[in-house]
Amino acid sequence: MKSAVGLGLLSSALASTHQNNINHVPQQQAFLQNACPSDSVLHNGECLSSGFAIPSTTESVSFQENGTLSLDESRALAARAEDFHWTFWPECYSSATTPEPVCVFTDQSFADGRGIFIVTTSKLAHQMLKKPAFADPKNALNRINKHSNPPFIQYEFPGKGRGLVANKTLNRGDQIFASTPLLITNPVSYEILETERLRLAHRGVDTLPPSSKASFWALLDHFKGDPVDDRINTNAFEIEIDGVSQYGVLPEIAMLNHDCRPNAAYFWDEETLSHYVHATETILPGQEITITYINNERSREKRVKNLKANWGFECSCSSCSAHPFFVAESDARVEQIAELAGYLDDWTPASKATPEMAEALLSLYVQERLHASMGVAYKHAAEAYSSFGERDMAIRYARLAVEYVVLDKGFRDRDVREMQSMAKDPSMTWSWKKRVGHKRANAGCEHAH
Ligand SMILES: *[C@@H]1O[C@H](CO)[C@@H](O)[C@H](O)[C@H]1NC(C)=O
Ligand SMILES: *[C@@H]1O[C@H](CO)[C@@H](O)[C@H](O)[C@H]1NC(C)=O
Repeated sequence: MKSAVGLGLLSSALASTHQNNINHVPQQQAFLQNACPSDSVLHNGECLSSGFAIPSTTESVSFQENGTLSLDESRALAARAEDFHWTFWPECYSSATTPEPVCVFTDQSFADGRGIFIVTTSKLAHQMLKKPAFADPKNALNRINKHSNPPFIQYEFPGKGRGLVANKTLNRGDQIFASTPLLITNPVSYEILETERLRLAHRGVDTLPPSSKASFWALLDHFKGDPVDDRINTNAFEIEIDGVSQYGVLPEIAMLNHDCRPNAAYFWDEETLSHYVHATETILPGQEITITYINNERSREKRVKNLKANWGFECSCSSCSAHPFFVAESDARVEQIAELAGYLDDWTPASKATPEMAEALLSLYVQERLHASMGVAYKHAAEAYSSFGERDMAIRYARLAVEYVVLDKGFRDRDVREMQSMAKDPSMTWSWKKRVGHKRANAGCEHAH
């Protein structure tokens, strides 16, 4: 069964002159009639009057036997189309559950020729073009994909595989690298037939610029199966775009190994469509640079299971391979972190939260070497002090929260903005003096900082 569909624009253009070709893709006619009124065509997610400039209908476009366009044909067609951003005419598939077809959109010139392919609907692809990464790349991408003279070398660890080792001292907040994905796939692609979803992924890889295609094929695959799908599944990171969770593949970040107590953190910035990696503590030359692939505030057993199931490897970092005595201590601290955070999150009049609890929480994060996720602990501390009306301590921890949260959650994160406001003036924030009058367990032996 062939359900390859061209976009409405193309098909309408061809309908009058190339009836024979359309017959190769019988399903698309039904779809097209539903998608737009009969006097208009679907283009970049919008129904436009069919007077809209279309690729010259006098030139012939020949489909292959199976109703798809060859790469050369689709490139030529995209070049002829007016006001058409993508390098290739997209190949699309629809199904009963997707009102709009799912297509592969490739832009070979994206990010200075690094290129990208996006598997999504025409409408969402069009929305993506409004992001500064596409609309204003000069500004948006000026710190991105700068991979010459990096602060690390690639190293082959015996028994563990490749990783990155610092070759200069990195301080907290230093950018290790930032890059744009080679591909983005929207979960809507799982609504078409699996063979068609794979077909779009293969087409996407085939249309990447040569060096990006090579980086894609150099990725490791853990699960075996379709070679493209495997590499995507093994290396994809969840990214959010316009409120929708999607997957992106970034070959650079895939070179960073996992550690349950990492020294670097990453975040996705949806305006620049970029993944940033920063040091979260001092990293000395010779130390491996690591990130976490999972939530580390869990017991060792849960972490090991999660890594095996989702990433296909045995956790070998020091907090996974320690002597059972140390593992038990570590698990107990992690459990206590959750307990204290629970108290600190309680904003009812019965709350037992105190700033001392927040201090204990901070200490546990340090003991556990959870530096990369300390932002949330500093935020708890800032709010706890603010809630008892302790202005200067609230400011102290709000500033630290901004520094750490941003490395983990990004420039535009809500917590970052909240902590910036608190650092300016705690008395203007919602938590100010919320708990004044509450019992303070250790009152009398106030913080000795
Ligand atoms: C259609 O045929 C071409 C050329 O034989 C082939 O490369 C392509 O993978 C086929 N596409 C599908 C969807 O079968
Ligand atoms: C670190 O290694 C990279 C190669 O991965 C090299 O380009 C860079 O110049 C080196 N930096 C230092 C400070 O040696």
